[in-house]
Amino acid sequence: MAASNQKFISDAEVVVVALGDSKARARISLASSRIMYLQEPMIAVDHMVLVAVALGYGTRWIGAFNEKEVKRILRIPEDLRVVVLLLIGASDENPPARPRKAFGQIFFEEFYGNPLKL
Ligand SMILES: Cc1cc2nc3c(=O)[nH]c(=O)nc-3n(C[C@H](O)[C@H](O)[C@H](O)COP(=O)(O)O)c2cc1C
Repeated sequence: MAASNQKFISDAEVVVVALGDSKARARISLASSRIMYLQEPMIAVDHMVLVAVALGYGTRWIGAFNEKEVKRILRIPEDLRVVVLLLIGASDENPPARPRKAFGQIFFEEFYGNPLKL
C-alpha cells in the first residue's frame, strides 16, 4: 500500500499530490533555497486547506506514504519529489478541536524558550 495502509484515503473525494522540483532554480541565494522546493508546495497546500475549510469541506494531511510507490502508480517523473498528500472532501464527522499548547509554549521572543508576552 502506497500510504501506510491508510485505507480511508480512497474514500476522499479529492487527493491532492503535492510535488516539489529540487532542480528548479532557486530565486534567492540563501541557505534556505536548498529546501524551497519543499517549502513552496507546503504553502500551496496550506492555502488549499484554508479555502477548503472556508467552503465547508474537511481536509487531512497525509505525510505517511511510500514515495516510490506513489510515484510509480501516478507515473511521476523520477526527479520530482512527493512532498505531501492532501485529502479534501465532505466531512462525515465534525470533531471538536483538540487541545492546543498554550500561546507561550509555541511563540517565543528574543531566544528559544522565552515565552512571547503580548
Ligand atoms: C505534515 C503532516 C502530515 C500528516 N500525516 C498524516 C498521515 O499520514 N495520516 C493521518 O491520519 N494524519 C496525518 N496528519 C494529521 C492529520 O492531518 C490530522 O487530522 C490533523 O493534523 C489534525 O488536525 P488538528 O491538529 O487540527 O486536530 C498529518 C499532519 C501533518 C501536519
